[in-house]
Amino acid sequence: MYRARPPDGIAWVTGASSGIGREVAQELVRRGYKVAATSRRRPELDELAKRSRTLFSFPCDLTDRAATATTVSRIEKEIGPIALAFLNAGIYFIADLKVFSADVAWRTFETNIGGTINCLDPLLSAMERRGMGQIAITASLAGYGGIGGSFGYGSTKAALIYMAEALRLGYATKGITVQIVNPGFVHTAMTAENKFEMPFIMGAERAAARICQGFEKSGFEIAFPKRLALGFKAMRHLPYAMYFPAMRRMAKRA
Ligand SMILES: NC(=O)c1ccc[n+]([C@@H]2O[C@H](COP(=O)([O-])OP(=O)(O)OC[C@H]3O[C@@H](n4cnc5c(N)ncnc54)[C@H](OP(=O)(O)O)[C@@H]3O)[C@@H](O)[C@H]2O)c1
Repeated sequence: MYRARPPDGIAWVTGASSGIGREVAQELVRRGYKVAATSRRRPELDELAKRSRTLFSFPCDLTDRAATATTVSRIEKEIGPIALAFLNAGIYFIADLKVFSADVAWRTFETNIGGTINCLDPLLSAMERRGMGQIAITASLAGYGGIGGSFGYGSTKAALIYMAEALRLGYATKGITVQIVNPGFVHTAMTAENKFEMPFIMGAERAAARICQGFEKSGFEIAFPKRLALGFKAMRHLPYAMYFPAMRRMAKRA
């Protein structure tokens, strides 16, 4: 499987204005990459770019398909070919456990899935032309199976896991390596308002180091922390008659 290296081209990180993306962008700079950083908030990206001569700010709302395509081609013209892309931008709403909201579901789908698709389209074309590239998509352990209340967020993450599996199979022969990043709980703005217990929660810097190690190995899944990932994986394989009662018990304890 192809594994990107700094001499092959630059790294593109989405969702780089805060949390996991911001830490991964800085870690990739430390590992020798030129990094293009994207999210909507320009001031945060500009501030990050001031910290390093090899990190560049490319603000963009990834739900805008045309603007995303333009951003990818600007990055490639101005900084260099993208060898490694970390498609990490995402949103999450603290949803009411019992009330479905089309607004919450659509907005989450628009960013988490729509935004990722808008990145993949120009990226895959460019990488296919060059015959090489590495793309890692951030999903979540929440994408392994239905979690009460997570009708929006969890289902976008399940879809991203599927999409990455399909792309891994379809693009390996074209020199393109696709990976999925499934974090457990990480201290970021996204989890700051959660009122429930978050087992094994870790800092964003540690999560970023774990993710960048995974880029270097090029295996399909980068899932952490290990114990939580194993627990979620085991749950996924339970028959539904056992899965739903187990999830209800977990929700009561949280
Ligand atoms: N924290 C966790 O426990 C956890 C666990 C599993 C998975 N994840 C996933 O990890 C990823 C990063 O989350 P985080 O925890 O680091 O949260 P975060 O700090 O809120 O980061 C989310 C990033 O996505 C960007 N973003 C949101 N909408 C965007 C849009 N339309 N266009 C461009 N950028 C957009 C945000 O920047 P702007 O607001 O500037 O656009 C921000 O940089 C997400 O995909 C999340 O689902 C997080």
